[in-house]
Amino acid sequence: MTLSIRPLTPVFAGEVTGIDCRRPLDPEEVTAIEDGMDRYAVLVFREQPLTDEEQIAFTRHFGELESYGTPGHIRHHEEQRLGPGINDFSNLDRHGNIMSADDRVWFFKLGDRLWHSDSSFRPVPAKYSLLSGRVLPSWGANTEFADMRAAYDALDARAKAEIADLVCEHSLLYSREAIGFTGLTPEEIKAFAPVRHPLVRIHPKSGRKSLFLAAHAGAIVGWTIPEARMFLRDLTEHATQREFVYSHKWRVGDLVVWDNRATMHRARRFDRNEVRDVRRTTLAGEPVIALSTAARSLAAQALP
Ligand SMILES: [Fe+2]
Repeated sequence: MTLSIRPLTPVFAGEVTGIDCRRPLDPEEVTAIEDGMDRYAVLVFREQPLTDEEQIAFTRHFGELESYGTPGHIRHHEEQRLGPGINDFSNLDRHGNIMSADDRVWFFKLGDRLWHSDSSFRPVPAKYSLLSGRVLPSWGANTEFADMRAAYDALDARAKAEIADLVCEHSLLYSREAIGFTGLTPEEIKAFAPVRHPLVRIHPKSGRKSLFLAAHAGAIVGWTIPEARMFLRDLTEHATQREFVYSHKWRVGDLVVWDNRATMHRARRFDRNEVRDVRRTTLAGEPVIALSTAARSLAAQALP
């Protein structure tokens, strides 16, 4: 088998063939996939029926698994359905039953339907996310991806100059507040304290500039909240125009890998009475590289 990649849209996203993700990769295959990720930012691998262990082993070819002491969700450790190293993005509780419509974990998950970049609410956000489709509902549930490099490139010179030094504050509180879920405990609010990141970031390998946006971004340092929210909303609308978006229609056995440093994504609606079992592994990233010195020093300052 020879690994090859064909583009899925004119600007980004590719489909990889000629690889079995269940077996160890040779160094040439790892390099080909990493080069493909730097170019396409999203790669689709069809017909890869992975176990959790195989998914974790495949993920580790590309770096260290993301691991934080603080939670990125509201589900407690003892309520987890899956083992360590793999994140549950299903609509199932720990017993394998569909979550009730008024389960607060379900409310929290609904926030993933807003455009975001994984772990942008962390001091060091994620590199790749790898999502494996195990059980899928009969309609809906696409995952959509937006190319934040193409979105940056398409801005005019005035807009690029305006955002060069800007720094945003990201928190899960902002994305959950945006869908009306505000029922968080004082401990959760403390755990989800905002972090700062530059609005324009540079990819460590490709060197391409991109917009570092997410529904988690709820403030711009030095701006009033209403003006910041409106500007971030405008930028998000710009960045998620159809020409920058690939919509993935899932088949069982798909593995989709995306680079959070160059894309945003969102989950789409489905019948919540049907099972959707998708499982994610996540690679640790590196500190965000700012476009400007001003943004770098502002992002490094502790929050008041
Ligand atoms: Fe996500």
